[in-house]
Amino acid sequence: MNTAAVREAWHPVSYSADLGEMPRAATLLDERLVLWRDAKGVARAMRDQCVHRGTALSLGRVEGGEIVCPYHGWRFATDGRCVHIPQLEDPKRVPSKACVPAYRCEERLGLVWVALEAPRWPLPEVGEFGDPSWRVVRTGPFEWNAHASRQLENFTDFGHFAFVHEGLLGDPAKPVVAAHEVAIDGPVVSYAYGRPDQPNTEKLAVFAAAERKAEMRRTRYRIQVPFTLVEHIDWGGADGMVYVFVSQPVSASRCIGYCMVARNYNLEQDEGVMQEFERTIFGQDQRIIESQPGGPVPLDGDAELHMAFDKVALAYRRTLRENGF
Ligand code: FES
Ligand SMILES: [Fe+2]
Repeated sequence: MNTAAVREAWHPVSYSADLGEMPRAATLLDERLVLWRDAKGVARAMRDQCVHRGTALSLGRVEGGEIVCPYHGWRFATDGRCVHIPQLEDPKRVPSKACVPAYRCEERLGLVWVALEAPRWPLPEVGEFGDPSWRVVRTGPFEWNAHASRQLENFTDFGHFAFVHEGLLGDPAKPVVAAHEVAIDGPVVSYAYGRPDQPNTEKLAVFAAAERKAEMRRTRYRIQVPFTLVEHIDWGGADGMVYVFVSQPVSASRCIGYCMVARNYNLEQDEGVMQEFERTIFGQDQRIIESQPGGPVPLDGDAELHMAFDKVALAYRRTLRENGF
């Protein structure tokens, strides 16, 4: 995969709620980052390497809207410029070379996002996430020894439900993948799929029960390359569910999945139920995906063996290819 293209996109690096007063380390495409909040609480991202001796700034602290290196106390402003060197007679006489790269950083949908280069596409927008009649539960994060494209593609795979998620998402007696249409529009793959739904289990009752007009789960998906997916689910009634799943490409062999689930029912349910459900599902997937060959999904159409029901994976790979990945 062309890493230069992956650098020109927004990627999640943390749940917003996990970034508090202390700086936090993250890795994006092998680049070590420090995340921190300035005096106004705005999330910032810089290279996690002090220009003086290379110490991790994420071990430091934030003071007066500046990040302070833990080794010799040099202070850096939000743009990465060093503004204070305590060892100098005049600590403000900072050489112009004393700075660390600062990266674009935004918060959206409860996540902190970073783009290492100018992003080619905007951050995703999901109306339900700001709507008070919906409640969002964050699950994970799910850290896997796999490439982000493998983790994303697994989320789109219909054929495995009956085998990997028996009783929770699929039924071994119903393994057939029904016909479905897939459309590609620039960097976006969209498709819809209806399938017989599994009943809720007693312990993990996360799906709609009351407003269910059919035993058919109706899903609409939108993948934005490289690693963002939004899924809308309903059962023909008023109850709805929205998944936002996005994978952080840590390195060629490591990724972190953030999975947020919005629902307009079960608003009183303890978040732990949804979290436990996804922990179970992602755990079932993890051992499968980590067993696949390392690195990104092959973008060459002839690699691996595709069947007609693997349409979405083919469209995903093609869209990655056509967008320079
Ligand atoms: S290493 Fe950061 S101030 Fe010296
Ligand atoms: Fe799965």
